[in-house]
Amino acid sequence: MAGVRRRSESITATAAQSPSSLSLSNSETPISKIEPPLILAPPKLGVVFAIAALSFVPFFYLLLVHYDVDPELKRSIVINAAMSLGGFIVSIRLIPVAAWYLSRRNMFGYDINKKGTPAGKIKVPETLGIVIGCVYLVITILFQHCTFSPDSEWLVEYNAALASVCFMILLGFIDDVLDVPWRIKLLLPSFAALPLLMAYAGHTTIIIPKPLIHYVGLQTLDLGQIYKFYMGMLAVFCTNSINIHAGINGLEVGQTVVISSAVLIHNIMQIGALKDQHAHAFSIYLVIPLLATSLALLSFNWYPSSVFVGDTYTYFAGMTLAVVGILGHFSETLLLFFLPQVLNFLYSCPQLFKIIPCPRHRLPRFDPKTGLLTGTKDGTLVNLFLRLFGRCSEQSICIRLLIFQVVSCIFCFWLRYILAGWYK
Ligand code: UD1
Ligand code: MG
Repeated sequence: MAGVRRRSESITATAAQSPSSLSLSNSETPISKIEPPLILAPPKLGVVFAIAALSFVPFFYLLLVHYDVDPELKRSIVINAAMSLGGFIVSIRLIPVAAWYLSRRNMFGYDINKKGTPAGKIKVPETLGIVIGCVYLVITILFQHCTFSPDSEWLVEYNAALASVCFMILLGFIDDVLDVPWRIKLLLPSFAALPLLMAYAGHTTIIIPKPLIHYVGLQTLDLGQIYKFYMGMLAVFCTNSINIHAGINGLEVGQTVVISSAVLIHNIMQIGALKDQHAHAFSIYLVIPLLATSLALLSFNWYPSSVFVGDTYTYFAGMTLAVVGILGHFSETLLLFFLPQVLNFLYSCPQLFKIIPCPRHRLPRFDPKTGLLTGTKDGTLVNLFLRLFGRCSEQSICIRLLIFQVVSCIFCFWLRYILAGWYK
């Protein structure tokens, strides 16, 4: 994180602040002496309600109207959604408070894509992912009371999943505070995945795709410990791939919201088709709170961001999606939902593996005169989109990339539909 500074350096309010940005005070008073606390720009609830409607309406239509879902399961999902709504409201209230506390501890960043304008001089509170990570954990821990009986075997895996998510939030926060080197960053999720890997008692077999059965000579293949290695690698990939598809206001949270919505629709379609109901219900219970709390964060992180999410959030979101993919037994589908992240990772490989130099930030070039971003040679999807489709504003590139994420998810559903019966 760019914003963690030595304690001795005080945060001061900048004189030129846009109404949409965080306002501290007009004076140069150190922030730690300012009372009342820092006031953030109000959350952009209009944008978030529109995105929430697009995310939740198809899911609830399929759950409540289209499919004949078991009433008990329906009840649990509705309780989960109600608790998540509570989590959304609490997060909206907590984020400005936490932003003040984080700023006071010198945890802030500069908006690189506004450099050269007054907004680029504002110290934007960083690491707000810690708030929604905590709210998420409270919801998911309390939710066990509503669904699982004390002897439920699901409880073991559910709590192992939560332990991994919690461990990941801790390591993400450590990363935000200490700004650890890139090679260590890459490894953090493999430690966080340990609780899940140790508690995992599910199958370790893979179904051989039908066209390959003839060549392999087997219908299923037991991978044993290799399967657990695969699970660990999936956690490493999901977390890091979200973290490096970043740096544009709203992109980190926006991509998580789109993937989570796609996961929910996939889960309910599988439940409707009477396939592996327990596993998909399990996924829904973990993803609805992720989506609700992420929407709260998005309301402050949408362009122009009044808070940054930090690696705490990108790791938390990636780990949560990885555990639901693993325990919901749909990791291949999950990887298809991650298509933009896969492309961004492949394009990044030469820089990630130091074949060509990798600067600290691989962001586009901002022109303060026009307010437009130009793609640089750094190997990211953001830069590629700017080079292919021309210069545009930060908000436009974020919307374009999120539309690409939606199109990738639709492509995934189409591919599953086309391949159903032929592939597996
Ligand atoms: C990853 C990327 C890096 C990218 C950064 C942006 C790789 C190898 N690393 O690094 O290229 O620049 O994410 O998050 O691909 N920021 C903005 N606007 C935003 C979000 C973040 O300007 O909308 C800046 C702020 O200065 C913030 C900093 O990025 O303080 C956070 O960067 P951090 O998450 O610590 O970077 P990495 O995850 O290490
Ligand atoms: Mg980051």
